[in-house]
Amino acid sequence: MMKLKSRVQQQGFLLALRFLAVVLWSFPGARALDNGLAITPTMGWLHWERFMCNLDCQEEPDSCISEKLFMQMAELMESDGWKDVGYEYLCIDDCWMAPERDSNGRLQADPKRFPSGIRGLADYVHSKGLKLGIYADVGNKTCAGFPGSFGHYDIDAKTFADWGVDLLKFDGCYCDSVEHLEKGYKRMSLALNRTGRSIVYSCEWPLYMWPFRKPNYTEIRQYCNHWRNFEDVYDSWQSVKSILAWTSSNQKRIVDVAGPGGWNDPDMLVIGNFGLSWDQQVTQMALWAIMAAPLLMSNDLRHISPQAKALLQDKDVIAINQDPLGKQGYRLRKEDNIEVWERPLSDLAWAVAMVNLQEIGGPRFHTISIASLGQGLACIPDCMITQLLPEKKKLGFYQWTSDLKTKINPTGTVLLRLAAT
Ligand code: GLA
Repeated sequence: MMKLKSRVQQQGFLLALRFLAVVLWSFPGARALDNGLAITPTMGWLHWERFMCNLDCQEEPDSCISEKLFMQMAELMESDGWKDVGYEYLCIDDCWMAPERDSNGRLQADPKRFPSGIRGLADYVHSKGLKLGIYADVGNKTCAGFPGSFGHYDIDAKTFADWGVDLLKFDGCYCDSVEHLEKGYKRMSLALNRTGRSIVYSCEWPLYMWPFRKPNYTEIRQYCNHWRNFEDVYDSWQSVKSILAWTSSNQKRIVDVAGPGGWNDPDMLVIGNFGLSWDQQVTQMALWAIMAAPLLMSNDLRHISPQAKALLQDKDVIAINQDPLGKQGYRLRKEDNIEVWERPLSDLAWAVAMVNLQEIGGPRFHTISIASLGQGLACIPDCMITQLLPEKKKLGFYQWTSDLKTKINPTGTVLLRLAAT
């Protein structure tokens, strides 16, 4: 009888904790830009990291920045399953423009490389059931030296809307003062809104603010759908590692501000290129899911290994990235070169990633106590644990009081999903 009573009490206590978890995790974040977009992180493809500013269509017709490149990518996004798993925005970065505005002061695409114009390209992309993203700059020039939008925010927003553009990446080069930078990002947001077209607004405002003063993220969230905080991603482990390090060391400032409608953007996925080992690609995919990051691939969909494709198209990992609760994860601890990250998910589930940052030696075993996860609320009274990466396997039921032992490759990650029972 005693035993029964204590069990009932225990269950009551656990239920109360669960209730607390629901209350805690459903608390809404700061107000977002009210354009109804990016309710979950944007997914798509962006040309910069892989194709940069290649203008030489004579010598390199397959990799220069031209409508042909985007049309080929659009076709593959539709035919090779990318669209089906959620990659929807096909985005042009810098170097699409002609060197001068037209006689009416409007931006124009380089006529040789984009003979159909952006409007023609947008029609094609839309015919594939995809959306088109474009790039411009808040200052006097784009980073690669093409015409900037300073003094032309309204006309540029209107031009993009007329062309049928669905996303704008707005860079921050060549801005002569921090006041212009802030005003420019805000004015473009309002200009886009006034067009009446739904255009995702992707900013680099905080990245360009940091050297001058600390960005006001609550304000940025009211104007942008996502915002870059840190340097450009490169096709290297060093780069991915530095993005993770920046994110964890600034997490108190940036994690809580993310949520439906507004996200921190740690830059493109470089999976499927040359610089990351298999384990490092797993780490990028797992951690971009934990960070609720926009998933914008920059790779060549015409030449991608089946393994990289399967990783990028992993529905379970994408589901973590796109989880409707919309809470960004954070680094829980770092011990002996192993980092544990966690992210609260809807239905009281949790994602947990363990990264082995030790670059000497082989795979390492790591044991975590389940009770240390999710502020003690991740697995009450028990939960079903599935390993999603590096490969999917059901690990089974775990009690709140149990330990879990995993094996993590150097520079690799083990990604788990803990589901309430
Ligand atoms: C900046 C941005 C990059 C890319 C280039 C283009 O460096 O941060 O993402 O858009 O400009 O010139």
